[in-house]
Amino acid sequence: MSSFVKNAWYVAAWSGEIGRYPMARTILGENLVFWRRQDGSPAALIDRCPHKLAPLSAGSLVGDDLQCGYHGMTFNSHGQCVRIPGQIAIPPSACARPFPLLERFGAVWVWMGEPALADASQIVEVRRYGEPGWGLVDGQYLHFDCNYLNITDNLVDPAHTTYVHRNTIGNAAAEDVSVKVEQGENHVLAYRWVNDSEPVPLVKAMGNFAGQVDRWQYYYLHLPSVSCVDFGSIAANREHSEQEMDAGLRSFSYNFLTPETETTTHYFWLHLRNYQPDSTQASAQVTQLMTDTFLEDAAILALVQREQDRTGIREFVRLGIDNAPARIRRLIARRQEAEQQMAQEAVSTAPPSSSQALTA
Ligand code: FES
Ligand SMILES: [Fe+2]
Repeated sequence: MSSFVKNAWYVAAWSGEIGRYPMARTILGENLVFWRRQDGSPAALIDRCPHKLAPLSAGSLVGDDLQCGYHGMTFNSHGQCVRIPGQIAIPPSACARPFPLLERFGAVWVWMGEPALADASQIVEVRRYGEPGWGLVDGQYLHFDCNYLNITDNLVDPAHTTYVHRNTIGNAAAEDVSVKVEQGENHVLAYRWVNDSEPVPLVKAMGNFAGQVDRWQYYYLHLPSVSCVDFGSIAANREHSEQEMDAGLRSFSYNFLTPETETTTHYFWLHLRNYQPDSTQASAQVTQLMTDTFLEDAAILALVQREQDRTGIREFVRLGIDNAPARIRRLIARRQEAEQQMAQEAVSTAPPSSSQALTA
């Protein structure tokens, strides 16, 4: 069974990736083609010509429309065929499925499910985005060789940072500090404070704390697969309030996971920080550090996926640290069940098709 949730917004691409040319990308196992119309607005269709199934991404743009590179059928951004060379009549089945898109936070988001349910208000809010005093690193992309749920597990699992990220964001002081977990309708939060500890390498490099720090990690996972990690450090023994946290060294690390296939995931990330916001050098350091950190995750998760696929084992020994990942998987399963039920209801209430009518 598929592990995907269809009725959700996914980052399809960074805004700069989509232009006046066809761009192919596989999302939730579907091949899509993206382009921009002349007014700059993005468009997406299934990347498959209904004639002989040539990828439309192998074609070219004609004004706002996309022309198949095999025999020249041309489709508008709604997926309607507007021209068949050498033929006037256009068969009703000559269309390509369109996908709802939105552009926000420097990214183009796609809705892969029922178009009527595509609700812009369901896009996650990126905290501090565009606010003065916050430096932004965006436009970063990685490709993970694993199912997206192995990444969502990882992104609400502070315990792995000590081991996987010992050279980047982790340190041993956090090893035995337990994680608290909270859950909402559309998110799971795992968090902890590590008090009176040695600053981690990132904080050493970017901050100027004289001594020990209290540091926090708040790992939010917004269903199905947007992660926000709110992390930072304040001088030890200060109040753990939102105000103090903003006055300390604070970062928001967003990871937008878009399943490509059951075993691969597009990994878009951006990072907001409240220190040296305008420094290109600080941005370059953040980019390097976060890339190194995420590649450490990618390496262990590719090994995990490989062994899961080799053995077919999907039931794992459950530890205390798996509380948040288990909640996410339960919530995802619930959404999938709801989608399946909706799909079944749609089938049972649909009017009979002409072929069904003929054989009835
Ligand atoms: S395959 Fe596209 S027009 Fe023939
Ligand atoms: Fe990690």
